[in-house]
Amino acid sequence: MGLLKGKVALVTGAARGIGRAVALEMAKEGADVAFTDLAVDENAKKTEADIKALGVRGKAYASNAASFEEAHKVVDEVVKDFGRVDILVNNAGITKDGLMMRMSEAQWDAVIGVNLKSAFNYIHAVTPVMVAQRGGSVINMASVVGVSGNAGQANYSASKAGMIGLAKSVAKELGPRGIRANAIAPGFIITEMTEQLPDSVKEEWAKQIPMRRGGTPEDVAKAAVFLASDLASYVSGQTLHVCGAMNT
Ligand code: NAI
Repeated sequence: MGLLKGKVALVTGAARGIGRAVALEMAKEGADVAFTDLAVDENAKKTEADIKALGVRGKAYASNAASFEEAHKVVDEVVKDFGRVDILVNNAGITKDGLMMRMSEAQWDAVIGVNLKSAFNYIHAVTPVMVAQRGGSVINMASVVGVSGNAGQANYSASKAGMIGLAKSVAKELGPRGIRANAIAPGFIITEMTEQLPDSVKEEWAKQIPMRRGGTPEDVAKAAVFLASDLASYVSGQTLHVCGAMNT
């Protein structure tokens, strides 16, 4: 407890799923947590209330992470409301799967926009803040398929490979300023994104996982807490796979 005491975290796409778990685990460790989602709906209000119930400050911001302008506006507001940003978790993500021959330009652009450009938008916006603070931790939510590739997910896999390259580049560029950047590559995690898959597909996935279970959002969130905390003070430019030994 208290690993992130005194720090301010900003998590994108945290009304539900992995982002929500990251927000709550960080709050449990004492961080004040600002988070975004497309709207401040019932889910976002619940996440905000659950953060506050842990005795820290929490606030939801409605914003499309794919918009450069909106990302900058959110970061300005977070700095006004919370005074600083120590941790940025680029978590917002979508899938629009399809085989290459049938994938539309719109499917490609949407996934690259939400999954990859969003991270550029937020890193661009927090960089001056973190440079002035002389420190910060950036975490990009990638995926094992960003390393392995996946048939039917060319857009998604490319966006997640991009998240890894982006984290490595930021680690090199901003390391001298005390800013660390890492990626997390979750495997098959049980969230609303994956729950809608048919049982047969889920069973097939489970067979490929040596630990024989899907991960929980909390499994991923705990890795994010580690990377955000001073426990990882010399860990930068890395990709932490949270996948039950799948793909290793
Ligand atoms: P989810 O669909 O349950 O949650 C994603 C959240 O992001 C939702 O609250 C959604 O409203 C929000 N969001 C979507 N587009 C947005 C936008 N343009 N701006 C702001 N917020 C937006 O998904 P899940 O499973 O929690 O995934 C979270 C991240 O983890 C994603 O980046 C995903 O690609 C990644 N991931 C998930 C895995 C899984 O098995 N569930 C595996 C590997 C990576």
